[in-house]
Amino acid sequence: METQRSIVDVVPTHVVREGGGFKVRRPYRMGKVLSPFLLIDEMGPTVYGPGEAVGAPWHPHRGFETVTYLLDGRMEHEDSAGNSGELNPGDVQWMTAGRGIIHCEEPHREFLHSGGRSHGFQIWVNLPSSDKMMDPRYQEVPSSESPTVEQDGVWARVIAGECMGTTSSIDTVIPITMVHVKMDADTCLVQKFETKLNGMVYVFGGEISLEGEPRVKSHPEAFGIRARQQVRDGELGLLSEGDQATILSKKGAEFLILAGPELNEPIERYGPFVMNTKEEIHQAFIDYRSGNFAN
Ligand code: CO
Repeated sequence: METQRSIVDVVPTHVVREGGGFKVRRPYRMGKVLSPFLLIDEMGPTVYGPGEAVGAPWHPHRGFETVTYLLDGRMEHEDSAGNSGELNPGDVQWMTAGRGIIHCEEPHREFLHSGGRSHGFQIWVNLPSSDKMMDPRYQEVPSSESPTVEQDGVWARVIAGECMGTTSSIDTVIPITMVHVKMDADTCLVQKFETKLNGMVYVFGGEISLEGEPRVKSHPEAFGIRARQQVRDGELGLLSEGDQATILSKKGAEFLILAGPELNEPIERYGPFVMNTKEEIHQAFIDYRSGNFAN
């Protein structure tokens, strides 16, 4: 008998500016109860005029992974290890910063020139202490090679993990599920999970509901919109433990399914560095300033 996951809490989002000033929609309380996800930023959607698009100029990262997934627009990136490339709609860049990388993430020059609609995600995935200082690595999956699946009015791109029997080729350090789903009106998706992993659903269009009884999580930081089984546009629904979630959409919906382990380690965070202790943060600054960071 499968145990059904249900919604234990619904976290609203707020709009903040990042990098060179682009707008992101971000759930509150990131990094506290959403292990292993430190940040779930929906970038845009923003429509830029010619010459207006902005990105994130040169900056460092240490101790975690950044996942960039583009829906609209065009980006280019370059880093201290000599990697460079571009991201187009449907492309995924899974970057493991590990002990350190310095990079810039900017609008592609042609996109900057022409302007247009920009929309996507940047998600920060924490690394366990044993892997925080691993060698940096990139996994880039263009949309043409990224697995998608469609069944009965439900479409999914499997960025990491599994959905409807389709599995991603991304190699993750800890077990991660990251799936982009579009559901037509009056459809249903049964998503399987490893029972113990933290599971969540970020809705960025329409509305979904989960089959099952609401359960209230007795977490001291629970946000307050509890005991409802709907998750609406701009909300992050946190799920109970269980083997599967039965997701229904009456009106149609677009969302991300995310899952990963509870790391249960202290988090010390300063800007682009996420470590376990203050000393490690201090060391990151020393290494960065001395040029002994990303080599
Ligand atoms: Co970055």
